[in-house]
Amino acid sequence: MAKDIERILFTETDIRAGLSRVAQEVAAYYRDAPCTVVSVLKGGCLFTADIIRQLPVPLRLSFAAVSSYGDGTTGGRLSLDYFPTDQEIREQRILLVDDILDTGRTLAFLRSALLKQGAREVKTCVLLDKPARRTVTYEADFRAFVIEDVFVVGYGLDFAGSYRNLPYIAVLRPEVYAE
Ligand code: PRP
Repeated sequence: MAKDIERILFTETDIRAGLSRVAQEVAAYYRDAPCTVVSVLKGGCLFTADIIRQLPVPLRLSFAAVSSYGDGTTGGRLSLDYFPTDQEIREQRILLVDDILDTGRTLAFLRSALLKQGAREVKTCVLLDKPARRTVTYEADFRAFVIEDVFVVGYGLDFAGSYRNLPYIAVLRPEVYAE
């Protein structure tokens, strides 16, 4: 895998520092209010596992998964592959946790589905925010890092299903995804 990496953007130490910083903001917000963390699969599961262990607040954990069909370049139709139960959502304060906010389509779609299902509030926490790529209006309430428009892998982020297990976040060599 290392041969496919152009450069490391965030080391394990950087990730830990960013994660602690954002966890403090999240913990301060939910101090007196239990929340349900909805981790967005698959990429968001590593960040979720790490951040919830830094949140000394009462919370419950659930998951959501979204697939995109159709033209991959413009973004096809989104559909829900997995969604929390009604009981986990209704009247709850939801914290959506994902690895990256890119075009914003996934999180906008999920937030709307959660509100429709009766969530009292939906906030969002992402490790990476790539505002240059946004195609829908969506801002994260909590974010660890803002990045430029580069293709990144590692720490949950994949290319064609691989590289999620890299402990750091790296820029992939363009030849790899041009192949
Ligand atoms: C990635 C990432 C976010 C989403 C962000 O997931 O984990 O969920 O894309 O992109 P967007 O802001 O443009 O919607 P992906 O759909 O690749 O699924 P995965 O997590 O299973 O890799």
